[in-house]
Amino acid sequence: MHETNASNKSTQKIKRHIESGEVCCDPAWEDAYKRFETPNEEINKFIKRLKAFGLQDRPKDMRVVELFCGRGGGLVALQRLGFTNLDGVDLSETLLRQNQNEARLHLADCRSLPFDNDSIDAVVVHGGLHHLPYLPEDLEAVLKEAHRVLKSSGTFHAVEPWLTPFLRFVHVVVENHWVRKFYDKGDALAVMIEHERETYEQWLHQPDTIRRLLDRFFVARTNQAAWGKIQFTGIRKATPDMGQSSS
Ligand SMILES: C[S@@+](CC[C@H](N)C(=O)[O-])C[C@H]1O[C@@H](n2cnc3c(N)ncnc32)[C@H](O)[C@@H]1O
Repeated sequence: MHETNASNKSTQKIKRHIESGEVCCDPAWEDAYKRFETPNEEINKFIKRLKAFGLQDRPKDMRVVELFCGRGGGLVALQRLGFTNLDGVDLSETLLRQNQNEARLHLADCRSLPFDNDSIDAVVVHGGLHHLPYLPEDLEAVLKEAHRVLKSSGTFHAVEPWLTPFLRFVHVVVENHWVRKFYDKGDALAVMIEHERETYEQWLHQPDTIRRLLDRFFVARTNQAAWGKIQFTGIRKATPDMGQSSS
């Protein structure tokens, strides 16, 4: 691993821990993502989630890392809640360059985090885990790393898609030609799903494995699946449960 600094179009510096690599997102996905919601709608959604995680009651100077931070809407949401000690990690330099926040940005792989053991108070993920190419190996690697960098009372928070009856209904609706023609948001969602289908399907069809892995590293405080999402908040376990290694 080596570290160099590259300036982006805002004033933020990106610390490089790996060579620049792109896993996401192709232009069609990006275009659909922009049509799906405006930056402000997205930030407001993230603020609601962070409040549901219970983060707003924690000290505002605690160190919070957002994994898979992409273009940084989640970091802006944390900032708007008053948090001042923030890091974002993503594999895409293109997306990191679009960040408009005060966080320290890291071009790094979430399967190998560039932080010391026992150095972080909270780790947050908004919809990044379902982009991992290999399950369960990659999820295990990310959770193991989150566990390693978190302090003993540290917390892990994630929201990801989940195959509830509502999500099945949404899939049917957005596949409909007429819905796609007349409802731009529905069409945008369908395009995003098409472009991430492989990892998305893989994620949606391994709920037991995913829950087992989360429980291995964290004591769940919230583990709710509703409206097509799972919302998980857990406290770092002193020692992860023994589990069959996936490697
Ligand atoms: C759908 S985007 C989510 C971005 C952001 N959380 C949001 O909601 O706007 C998924 C992000 O995960 C990143 N990503 C995928 N695999 C990664 C990995 N192994 N390490 C770091 N980032 C990764 C992609 O570059 C992309 O920015």
